[in-house]
Amino acid sequence: MEYRGYDSAGVAVLDGAGTLIVERKAGRLANLETELDVTGRDRFAGTAGMGHTRWATHGAPVDRNSHPHRDTAERVAVVHNGIIENFATLRAELEADGIELSSDTDTETAAHLIARAYTDGPAAGDLPASVRTVCRRLEGAFTLVVTHADEPDLIVAARRSSPLVVGVGEGETFVASDVSAFIEHTRDAVELGQDQLVAITRDGYEVTDFAGEPAQAKPFTVAWDLSAAEKGGHDYFMLKEIEEQPEALANTLRGHFDHGRIILDEQRMSDQDLRDVDKVFVVACGTAYHSGLIAKYAIEHWTRLPVEVELASEFRYRDPVLDRDTLVVAISQSGETADTLEAVRHARGQKARVLAICNTNGAQIPRESDAVLYTHAGPEVGVAATKTFTSQIAANYLVGLALAQARGTKYPDEVAREFAELEAMPAAVQKALSTVDHVRALGQQLADSKAVLFLGRHVGFPVALEGALKLKELAYMHAEGFAAGELKHGPIALIESGLPVVVVMPSPKGRAVLHAKLLSNISEIQARGARTIVIAEEGDDTVRPFADELVEVPAVPTLLQPLVSSVPLQVLAAEIARTRGYDVDKPRNLAKSVTVE
Ligand code: F6R
Repeated sequence: MEYRGYDSAGVAVLDGAGTLIVERKAGRLANLETELDVTGRDRFAGTAGMGHTRWATHGAPVDRNSHPHRDTAERVAVVHNGIIENFATLRAELEADGIELSSDTDTETAAHLIARAYTDGPAAGDLPASVRTVCRRLEGAFTLVVTHADEPDLIVAARRSSPLVVGVGEGETFVASDVSAFIEHTRDAVELGQDQLVAITRDGYEVTDFAGEPAQAKPFTVAWDLSAAEKGGHDYFMLKEIEEQPEALANTLRGHFDHGRIILDEQRMSDQDLRDVDKVFVVACGTAYHSGLIAKYAIEHWTRLPVEVELASEFRYRDPVLDRDTLVVAISQSGETADTLEAVRHARGQKARVLAICNTNGAQIPRESDAVLYTHAGPEVGVAATKTFTSQIAANYLVGLALAQARGTKYPDEVAREFAELEAMPAAVQKALSTVDHVRALGQQLADSKAVLFLGRHVGFPVALEGALKLKELAYMHAEGFAAGELKHGPIALIESGLPVVVVMPSPKGRAVLHAKLLSNISEIQARGARTIVIAEEGDDTVRPFADELVEVPAVPTLLQPLVSSVPLQVLAAEIARTRGYDVDKPRNLAKSVTVE
């Protein structure tokens, strides 16, 4: 689970004889492992236990802020994901009662409150009831996992707006934020709903709501196994995931075209609703946002609907014009990104319909949406999005085709043709992967650069933005993506001798005018001493004189070009980062799921 946070880690085990054994350490999980080797792992024999890896929100990543947190008497242990927004009030209340808190975290308040509820009051002696009592008081988004030294065979977990799944094995039960934590032991899982609590024992589980009423949680079988969440001989997950893109794309497309029609996964809106759509908003963050920028070209072209693409974190704070005929497409790999989730809630509050594109079955964003298209790209462990990005592009296109089909802006045979072109993409991406060795060598040469610029036009512009984002987040190198036409309006001042500039070329056939204009742009930067690295369609010989380095990708239809041209940019960023000595799978300060705003 380290991909969710790697600032610190901790474990707590109930020894079965009334003692809670805890070890916590700042830094990567490996630090905790070393500590356990020194202090002795035998101490951790017990009946039930929990582990946590943290991405710091309240309090610096130091030992005392690491989870699990305990109450003063060290009877209760709590791990937490999310933010308890009213923690300052709760903390003041505890301090007024004479309780001394030993960390700067919001989580510790929950440990003290649960211990108090277990000792005194109507829930005394009942751990699930004590946790429920406290959950009802908490504001914000949280998943809590709780043990009590007096209850050696029980673990209680609760969730609001943060993920929690139960793994049901034989003679063992698990809770985790994500199935990959227990996939080694069982593929039978249960997904908890909003404001639900689960009490697990070795024999099974019981779900209630926060009022204590029995509640239904949704059982499912995980469609992939442990090998999907392991490196499988690769140095790092990201490279494995880059190479999995053909398969991921095929999985995204599979089953979505049947009897001549595009089909979504879960559609809680009618064809008439789709026909009534008069405007589309795409909301997402980071890489998912870049996939949305690409989608705009296709959706507007195919449906003639206006499409606005907006960062989810900006969307709901600027009063966007929404009504019941607005379709909001929310794109999120994890399905739990707080900014995107809040954008979805805002949109639904304004009566707009929401269609989610998501890689995680049953995550909160798809649960709160009117329709869902899952990308089915499989687990992505590397923190930087790669295969889920290309899968999102394909899924966005399916949404565009579904809209075109419902609205009649494309004839059925045209929809079928577009789908067939999409279906040819896994093979094209496989071919694009043959550039990996060349690009890795290039990455090694560029590793000492101060900065890299990325240029593109049309759908190549979001590809340039994504190439720059990958380089920033992995190699901690200054990188900027620009629309090549903007160059003379300012950014050209950045060009200096030897500066690497990556240019994403359009097809000379598909976009001849843009191709010619980009060649002029490259001449301008070459004249100023830039080192040009050009990603171009194979056989595009006109570009050779302008390219200090040429990376060829297969010729594909214009709208599909991002699927192939992104591949070398992913490899380039990973290789520059690796050469600079960084952990490609776990870039500093980042976590895979950004569950806080
Ligand atoms: C970059 C990256 C992030 C995510 C963003 C949204 O490589 O992974 O920019 O794309 O945090 O995450 P999801 O798609 O889970 O909503």
